[in-house]
Amino acid sequence: MTVEATIALPVGTTLDRFIMRQQENFGYAKGELSQLLRDIALASKIIGKEINRAGLTDITGAFGRENVQGESQQKLDVIANIRFKRALINGGEVCGILSEEEDEIIQTNNYNGKYVVAIDPLDGSSNIDVNVSIGTIFSIYRRVSPVGTPAVIDDFMQGGRKQVAAGYILYGSSTVMVYTTGQGVNCFTYESSLGEFFFSHADMTIPSTGKIYSVNDAYFDEFAAPVQTFVTEMRRTKGAMARYIGSLVGDFHRNLLKGGIYLYPPTAKTPHGKLRLLYECYPLAFVIEQAGGRGYDGTQDILDITPTHVHQRCAAYLGSTQLIDELVKQLNCEV
Ligand code: AHG
Ligand code: MN
Ligand code: MN
Repeated sequence: MTVEATIALPVGTTLDRFIMRQQENFGYAKGELSQLLRDIALASKIIGKEINRAGLTDITGAFGRENVQGESQQKLDVIANIRFKRALINGGEVCGILSEEEDEIIQTNNYNGKYVVAIDPLDGSSNIDVNVSIGTIFSIYRRVSPVGTPAVIDDFMQGGRKQVAAGYILYGSSTVMVYTTGQGVNCFTYESSLGEFFFSHADMTIPSTGKIYSVNDAYFDEFAAPVQTFVTEMRRTKGAMARYIGSLVGDFHRNLLKGGIYLYPPTAKTPHGKLRLLYECYPLAFVIEQAGGRGYDGTQDILDITPTHVHQRCAAYLGSTQLIDELVKQLNCEV
């Protein structure tokens, strides 16, 4: 490329600048939420770097303990949890954290922090050791407890519609951060040589329908009849394609771009669904609704679920509106 051609290309908008501009649109915003989003981005850069080098250092494999869900923790689950905690504690905007990796809510001792964060620090941990995409999912609320006091469980139990921001980082063929503050969904791609996320996909919308379905087929026989019918009908009438890597963030991101549906129905082993409501389903349901899609749990929209437990699970169907509507129709036929 010629010098003229090279310098004619703009470098682009960094995540920081984008966040700053968004903040300027709200005269009243004091910048705490902006800072918090930057803290999450910073932690994700560090984790992304560690993931990239994982095979060269001794950080693959099991950690040797189980988390509160009874699932074996991987070393990188534990590392990612520590990185996010440090970034959020040092950032100062958050009074409490709920993490998949810890039983109790975490007090940051920043009593003046106005926000709380629920986080799945590393999603898709079965894919860490095999070089397949993994992610981070986060959900942010404005606290309901008084500023100046420790965080309480109720700060996290406000329900999905009270999220002020949510999103994910996908450590894939490139690393992207996708988030919403309730005004559409934007995506930023990481430029590792510059150490910055750059604005790359503006105002993302999911196609209203699609051919992709993402489900763990091994459990098919355990799904309720309407869910089975939905999947077989999709195969029969739409020329559907199955795509499932077992990292929710990866499967979700693909379907957001291409159109499709992600399904994790109840199974014998996980009769209430496998995915966690507060740090997997709520944030992704917020993103998908903002992108024009829909998140459903089998009886209601995920964002309308009243939470009962910080680590509760839920069935999840996330995707293109027409596909979810067809699934809902099947589920209602059965009643
Ligand atoms: P996590 O690694 O945070 O525990 O999440 C794993 C989740 C999700 O990422 C994925 O879609 C699903 O578990 C895969 O479950 P199956 O292996 O049962 O299909
Ligand atoms: Mn997960
Ligand atoms: Mn996880």
